[in-house]
Amino acid sequence: MTTRIIGTGSYLPKAVVTNDDLAKIMDTSDEWIRTRTGICERHLVTEETTTSMCIEAAKRALENAGISGEEIDLIIVGTVSGDNMTPSTACEVQAAIGAAKAVAFDMNAACAGFIFALNTAHAYFQAGIYKTALILGAETLSKIMDWNDRSTCVLFGDGAGAAVVRADESGLLAFEQGCDGSKAHVLLGKSRGNNNPLVSTDTSLDYVHMDGQEVYKFAVSTVPASVQRVLEKANVSIDEISYFALHQANIRILQSVAKRLKVSEDKFPISLDHCGNLSAASVPVLLDEMNQKGMLKKGGKIVLSGFGAGLTWGTVLLEW
Ligand code: COA
Repeated sequence: MTTRIIGTGSYLPKAVVTNDDLAKIMDTSDEWIRTRTGICERHLVTEETTTSMCIEAAKRALENAGISGEEIDLIIVGTVSGDNMTPSTACEVQAAIGAAKAVAFDMNAACAGFIFALNTAHAYFQAGIYKTALILGAETLSKIMDWNDRSTCVLFGDGAGAAVVRADESGLLAFEQGCDGSKAHVLLGKSRGNNNPLVSTDTSLDYVHMDGQEVYKFAVSTVPASVQRVLEKANVSIDEISYFALHQANIRILQSVAKRLKVSEDKFPISLDHCGNLSAASVPVLLDEMNQKGMLKKGGKIVLSGFGAGLTWGTVLLEW
């Protein structure tokens, strides 16, 4: 028994902010952002929230799968930017889509969040516990960015992506996931401090801090090796892969991974040009765009890979 994706959906906020828009409010330029990252614009929330984007992406994925919320056993939302400490985003989605019998929880694996959620659903399916799951990656990163730090805020955006997955005879062929907590400091967003009667710390919320070059080195070394291991596990040759749908952090990371794998860049679809880096939402938003464009053919093999803060990474080989 394995896991098949039977529907996808996504939601991007209505407001679009171009590089030129950012250049009006900070010392940056379209040329700097575009040449170093490939990003041209991103969507930022105005009235939307992480939860509302999830609900819309979930409804679209259910419609694409042709099933109702009542059929869902499990909902997992990969996010680092939920609206509440509690309840979880997943519980709010559960109520909104009428998934009364579903168990629901959030998962924090940063930019690998959707992949970890997919692998978790897969493990439940393999154990025979659940049959149908809704998995999401969703972020409102604009609220945890330091808008005075031009080296990070220009890179990220807001959005949500979803997939309906089902226990099936074919689909997911192999996966791996990994973490390296010893490098946690290279991409960090601290939580609120503590003001209990025994301690007094700064309780203002911090923003995301990133050592961009260290993250870059991690990504271009870890991702190709992870892809190779997953292909070996499934005994699938790299030539058989139609697409590598990778986390959309930076065009230069995608180009470097393609080069290291000796694969044409044409097999690396892009959404970062119009979305920026969406952390956990990157992979499912990209997957939905590929699905809408008819790029995913039945029986075709694709690789998904997410990587980022933690550090975390996860790679999946799927037969569509
Ligand atoms: N606009 C204009 N100049 C900027 C800028 C911006 N938005 N952000 C930084 N700069 C400046 C820096 O201040 C620095 O100026 P200096 O040389 O006068 O000090 C210069 O540009 C170079 O900065 P640097 O950080 O060395 O650039 P870089 O070539 O490493 O590129 C990243 C920066 C972030 C694009 C790159 O490191 C990267 O993509 N890393 C991976 C990050 C990532 O993908 N993270 C998410 C993973 S989930």
